[in-house]
Amino acid sequence: MTALTLSTAAAPGLRADAIVIGVGKGGKGPVVAPGADAVDKAYDGRLAGILETLGASGAEGEITKLPAPAGFKAPLVLAVGLGTEPADDEAYGAEALRRAAGVAARALTGAKKAAFALPLTDAADAGAIAEGALLGAYSFDAYKDNGKDAKSGGKGPLGEVALLGGKPRDKEYKAAVERALAVTEELNRARDLINTPPNDLDPEAFAAVAQTAAKEHGIKVEVLDEKALEKGGYGGILGVGAGSAAGPRLVKLSYTHAEATKHLAFVGKGITYDSGGISLKPAGHNETMKCDMSGAAAVFAAVVAAARLGLAVNVTGWLALAENMPSGSATRPGDVLRMYSGKTVEVLNTDAEGRLVLADALWAASAEKPDAIVDVATLTGAMVLALGSRTFGVMANDDAFRAAIVDAAEEVGEPSWPMPLPEHLRKGMDSPTADIANMGERMGGGLVAGLFLREFVGEGITWAHVDIAGPAFNEGGPFGYTPKGGTGSAVRTLVRLAELTAAGDLG
Ligand code: BES
Ligand code: MN
Ligand code: ZN
Repeated sequence: MTALTLSTAAAPGLRADAIVIGVGKGGKGPVVAPGADAVDKAYDGRLAGILETLGASGAEGEITKLPAPAGFKAPLVLAVGLGTEPADDEAYGAEALRRAAGVAARALTGAKKAAFALPLTDAADAGAIAEGALLGAYSFDAYKDNGKDAKSGGKGPLGEVALLGGKPRDKEYKAAVERALAVTEELNRARDLINTPPNDLDPEAFAAVAQTAAKEHGIKVEVLDEKALEKGGYGGILGVGAGSAAGPRLVKLSYTHAEATKHLAFVGKGITYDSGGISLKPAGHNETMKCDMSGAAAVFAAVVAAARLGLAVNVTGWLALAENMPSGSATRPGDVLRMYSGKTVEVLNTDAEGRLVLADALWAASAEKPDAIVDVATLTGAMVLALGSRTFGVMANDDAFRAAIVDAAEEVGEPSWPMPLPEHLRKGMDSPTADIANMGERMGGGLVAGLFLREFVGEGITWAHVDIAGPAFNEGGPFGYTPKGGTGSAVRTLVRLAELTAAGDLG
């Protein structure tokens, strides 16, 4: 894990592998961003010219390395592009800082220590830089043969991020940086869970991880195993898990605060592997399906982060864990499941399994009458087709709540978009046999899934559904503070929602 330190030291005397500075895209070439004055001075004020000579433009994501000036303890200056230079009376935005810090941290994978001298005007900027650096520093090397084979071996994460230029003794500054540390550590833990191969993370193993973390952070945890699920009548979770040798679980994490006046419930889809079941996915569609528990990982991370931050809000996390496999005991297309809510569902396609486990968890969450429920799920390929691989879709039974989630996501730098729940799509799920089928029209499949979930939310409860099928797992190259593989999508939005609720600014 990457350490985070605050430093008041001047850049020259700092012992580190690199000093990270910012470079903006000015009207007439690259401009050195505030925060790098000491570095620029050591180059006799010629840094912008040197950067231009080296081909730097200040474009977002650009990395330029140069030897540190004489007298510097660090050997390397790493200039990272911040994008267009802001107008005179404005500052670089938080997300630009977060991304640049992430790009720099990625470029320094394997280094012991990097000092970040990026521009910051307030505590929030410091938090954003810390967040970007700690998220960018992430690497998943648990299965790499470290050291033995330099090619396949992981380099390990960046060891330490030192923040320069802030006010380490300022209360607000300290709080922002500590928040960044808590959120990114839990987010990176979610990434680890997502990246862990499915043969090492079945529902039981995931539940055990949740139990350990919950105990560590004073969160109450309850795990329903197969027996308990059977006794309770959780037909959706059991039906999805029926084909797997590894039984399903429902994990309930309860974080409570003595002064809380509001209660949020987060529900996560936790399919530890989605083969499609009897409606088997073809090759080409199942290689990344270990990521199908990303919603549960996000919920888990958010609840632990809320506990670490001591937020004055009660947050219950529900992890609906199952492995979707074909076998002689698997649910068949045509089977009817009796769900926890009592409704019956005709399973027409066993690959539409996420909505089945979520339905039971939503109904369980509803029984506590929380002020609002948010579910997070890698639910539909249709949402990926609609919004691409970086944007999650938000649906809700309440327009204001949907807007609040989109706003919270924007605030933390997660791209999202509001999506509708068109009533006319509901009848496509009418079943001749059961109360509802688990599939409807193909067109608008992401919205159909949302409409299905809506049926399992308790009467009068504010609810939103976040479909992260696109952004949960990055199959492309890394960008900004986002690595390849598990991204930790929605964690920061959920944490922000909990913060806003605690502050009385939501609902
Ligand atoms: N886990 C998948 C959705 C998914 C697709 C997640 C791509 C991440 C990337 C989900 O369980 C699924 O298979 N959905 C089906 C539903 C359909 C059968 C109604 C889909 O979207 O094709
Ligand atoms: Mn599926
Ligand atoms: Zn799935």
